[in-house]
Amino acid sequence: MRIQMESINVAQTDSLARAFSKVVKPPMIILLNGDLGSGKTTFVKSLVKYLGSNDEVTSPTFTLLNTYNGEFPIYHFDMYRLSSMEEALAVGFEEYFDKSKLDGVCLVEWAENVEGLISEVDFVITIDKINDRLRKITIRQGK
Ligand SMILES: Nc1ncnc2c1ncn2[C@@H]1O[C@H](COP(=O)(O)OP(=O)(O)OP(=O)(O)O)[C@@H](O)[C@H]1O
Ligand SMILES: [Mg+2]
Repeated sequence: MRIQMESINVAQTDSLARAFSKVVKPPMIILLNGDLGSGKTTFVKSLVKYLGSNDEVTSPTFTLLNTYNGEFPIYHFDMYRLSSMEEALAVGFEEYFDKSKLDGVCLVEWAENVEGLISEVDFVITIDKINDRLRKITIRQGK
């Protein structure tokens, strides 16, 4: 399955996240790909809200992982500052990506930096920045 659409502002990205939230349930691993400032964290903010968490979503650029609570835990990773799978293993991230043990949903920005760490991917969301406000958003099932 592959869905592609355009978003011309944050409100449209929010609507897409709302629709997508209907298919999200634990245990799931979702990757968000796209350049700096493309809108990955913006999509996560909406998705977390529609998954029923009232927790504030911030970019885990420095913390690497933020956990939001709601009906189930949501693990928001930003691998931007990591540069290999080994670095992710060193901070104990492998336990989150074993779906037989996962109690929530993982949302991962910059997964390409930790190639080899994540093998069981449910969805890949790719955001292409066309201009200031226009984004092409592709949702693909599987890796
Ligand atoms: N159509 C749109 N959809 C989403 N965000 C948009 C859109 N148009 C403009 N923006 C803006 O683009 C920026 C996206 O920033 P965001 O932090 O979500 O990017 P990111 O992909 O997470 O970046 P990083 O790689 O640094 O983590 C926000 O300032 C947002 O307001
Ligand atoms: Mg981000």
